[in-house]
Amino acid sequence: MTMRDWLVGLAAHAQRLAGQSLATLIQADPARAQDFALRCGPLYANFARQRYDRVALDALFDIAARADLAGAMQRQLGGDTVNPTEGRAALHSALRGEATASAFVLAARAQAMAAQLRMRELIEALAATDVTDIVSVGIGGSDLGPRLVVDALATPDARFRVHFISNVDGNAARRVLAGLDPKKTAGVVISKTFGTQETLLNGQIVRDWLGDDSRLYAVSTNAQRVADFGIPPERTLPMWDWVGGRYSLWSAVGFPIALALGMDCFEQLLEGAAAIDAHALHAPLRQNIAVWHALTAVWNRNGLHAATQAVLPYDDRLKLLPNYLQQLVMESLGKRVRLDGSDVQVETVPVWWGGAGTDTQHSFFQALHQGTQVVPADFIGVVQADHPFAANHAALLANLLAQTEALANGQNSDDPHRRYPGGRPSTLLLLEALTPQTLGMLIALYEHSVFLQSVLWGINAFDQFGVELGKQVANRLLPALQGEREADDPVTRAVLAELRSGA
Ligand code: F6P
Repeated sequence: MTMRDWLVGLAAHAQRLAGQSLATLIQADPARAQDFALRCGPLYANFARQRYDRVALDALFDIAARADLAGAMQRQLGGDTVNPTEGRAALHSALRGEATASAFVLAARAQAMAAQLRMRELIEALAATDVTDIVSVGIGGSDLGPRLVVDALATPDARFRVHFISNVDGNAARRVLAGLDPKKTAGVVISKTFGTQETLLNGQIVRDWLGDDSRLYAVSTNAQRVADFGIPPERTLPMWDWVGGRYSLWSAVGFPIALALGMDCFEQLLEGAAAIDAHALHAPLRQNIAVWHALTAVWNRNGLHAATQAVLPYDDRLKLLPNYLQQLVMESLGKRVRLDGSDVQVETVPVWWGGAGTDTQHSFFQALHQGTQVVPADFIGVVQADHPFAANHAALLANLLAQTEALANGQNSDDPHRRYPGGRPSTLLLLEALTPQTLGMLIALYEHSVFLQSVLWGINAFDQFGVELGKQVANRLLPALQGEREADDPVTRAVLAELRSGA
């Protein structure tokens, strides 16, 4: 039997369980509330409200063993070429520790440590100036991770306020720069390739606005392009092709994080991620949170055929987590061919979306409770509050618990409009507190889950050729938009005519 056959076989288990409500499944096996829960230090995960039973779980762990998930983790963290279409390793784990001791990992680790030392020196030098604000320019993996962590953890008393510009829409730059003083601002242009149109255009805007190149920094693998842009090596931090863009916040791409939180906090973020690296690598499959999370994702997709997956942080500081995970998960797993180029033949990534509770309860939760589509959800909570408003925190946690319970159990009624079907699966992830360390753990957990899902589906989690076509077409159309040539496509030609007429 092939892996595809095993995955297709999950639907038979789902079929077997279809007649039983989730509430019944849980009542019939109350020990699952504890047995389906795992802990790694301050990170707790509970999978008891997923729509599987122990028999289906056995099938999932059987698949995990057949797919050699443990060996795959070893290969990824050991520096193997897990991105064969680009001939690269994916060694983001080496940015945060020595999960394995291969020569490649140790060499990568040495480069990472040297870069961290330079980050510390540059921050100390900048702290000795009048600069109060930093503008970070980047997009995708060169923006979303730093933006998430800064938004989650920066405090008003920080030495630097950090702002982000990503969108090529000039309004993004205009709005950020409007409130800043160029003489007290430094810019950081972050681009792995230093060839991304949006970042180069926005970088140029910031550079012109600063009026003084001496406060412009860069992070990139491509030192030549950075030099051509006019930023000298002493203000350039390195990146390497063994780090994928969407896995890069742990590298110098995290420079804005280190500026906003301080280098010590940045290192705590790395330590948290390293703890999950060790857990994902060494914990046996049944005690491994990353493995449970990945198997659950595959169960919901290939067993239950869920088309979307929600991520619902119940902490306002994590409101950008869904945006971040959309790139991490969907750019990694949005693939339709296997590593050998053959059709994958099972459903791969669902659409990931979400937002912070409790706001989202008053927007899209109606559809989660009574819509025709069942949407599995990851609920994320933080046990300790970092504010003095105890009543609010109690209400927040009560709502978090209430939603997971109501979605799972539903409620019967003679009135069909007031009937809640229940059976809506969720995973609960709890952090003891929101700190650099626990946020590092949470993000690294998702990274490993994504990789393990890719192994189960036999796809490459580390390339992203799908985003290239749109970029190429946009480059071809730029001269057409500027009236220098006609577009080839008839619909585009018609729309261009409208644009040129000022519609
Ligand atoms: O969106 C496509 C992409 O290639 C992402 O993978 C990447 O994170 C982003 O563009 C930015 O790329 P760069 O860091 O090279 O500017």
